[in-house]
Amino acid sequence: MLQDKRILLILTGGIAAYKGLDLIRRLRERGAAVTPVLTRAAEQFVTPLSVSALAGEKVYRDLFDLTDEAEMGHIQLSRSADLILVAPATADIIAKMAQGRADDLASTLLLATDTPVMIAPAMNVRMWDHPATQRNLAQIAKDGVSVVGPNDGDMACGEYGPGRMSEPLEIVAAVETHFGPKPLAGKHVLVTSGPTHEPIDPVRYIANRSSGAQGAALASALVSLGADVTFVTGPADVAAPAEARVVPVQTAQEMKAAVDAALPADAAVFAAAVADWRVARASGRKLKKSKDGLPVLEFAENQDILAGVSQMTKGRPGLVVGFAAETDDVEAHATAKRARKGCDWIVANDVSPETGIMGGSENAVILITEKGADPWPRMSKAEVAKRLAQRIADALT
Ligand code: CTP
Repeated sequence: MLQDKRILLILTGGIAAYKGLDLIRRLRERGAAVTPVLTRAAEQFVTPLSVSALAGEKVYRDLFDLTDEAEMGHIQLSRSADLILVAPATADIIAKMAQGRADDLASTLLLATDTPVMIAPAMNVRMWDHPATQRNLAQIAKDGVSVVGPNDGDMACGEYGPGRMSEPLEIVAAVETHFGPKPLAGKHVLVTSGPTHEPIDPVRYIANRSSGAQGAALASALVSLGADVTFVTGPADVAAPAEARVVPVQTAQEMKAAVDAALPADAAVFAAAVADWRVARASGRKLKKSKDGLPVLEFAENQDILAGVSQMTKGRPGLVVGFAAETDDVEAHATAKRARKGCDWIVANDVSPETGIMGGSENAVILITEKGADPWPRMSKAEVAKRLAQRIADALT
């Protein structure tokens, strides 16, 4: 799949650089040509000799190496590739990329290029979580850089958490997706995701157990197929995909307004677990315990966003997809929901606690369309997202 693709692989200085060696092999096995670049710090972890032996190419190391400049200037080097891959990408190179600094060969190449750039971050969990790193990542994502991982796990430094570089095969999969077909190019897809928070008073709210994982995975999968994605998300546990246009909201009413503002769209997918009810009159002040008795909450029904969009008479998206979270008679309830709301498809899942689906990493869905019910085997939410994105692409093209 990577036949004849030219990848400029920049290895920066992290313990994960050893995985960079395997990455070179995996990329070459698939037919890619890999031109390696090492930073000074990377040379502390892997040797130029092993890198060039695996790549079968010269290793570029120094901005002021005149032989290199004579053979191939750094500008040309940065532009001759189909993709620049930075793996591992340290907090330092990410900071340099965010600021546009160019004080060594790697950072200069990244600044001089108009080639797509993908990074696989690897760093200590505290460094990853640091607001400066997150700010820099948001900046480079906005600049068009795509980000693979990192994964959660044990770290070389003995801590646990996000910051482990993705495995070589995960990075290869992202590279293959990058070069893969883009059937949704030019299509605007709206995705709602996550729970909503309905305030009771300034410090309390009503919520639900949705993590937002399925919606976020779906938005990523749609982006991978080339879609222009607007991602309207309630307060979720998982990060929103950086390449989407992210609109954060709190309440169902805010979500409805954000959806209205994002239309028109070619397709709209409603993965959010929207609260059916809000507190009719949320208190402007914190409710206090009182001898006069317990507070009584009166509810008002939230507008059904999915039904509203499904039943638009003008400007309705060409494809409207709802989700159904059910605990019993999944297929029957979801089929009835499809008819009642007027959407084209319903993705139904069983959210009984024993399934571990809500808040978990797997999903078992039944796709309900005009043709009937199609049960999918249990698989990861990422896999469900990929399949559903492909089905959406098939329907729109
Ligand atoms: N939904 C929505 N706006 C709402 C409520 C739900 O857009 N106010 C969407 C959800 O995003 C999901 C679908 O409707 O795509 C199904 O939601 P669900 O809560 O399962 O259905 P309900 O309408 O609550 O029906 P029931 O009470 O019968 O479960």
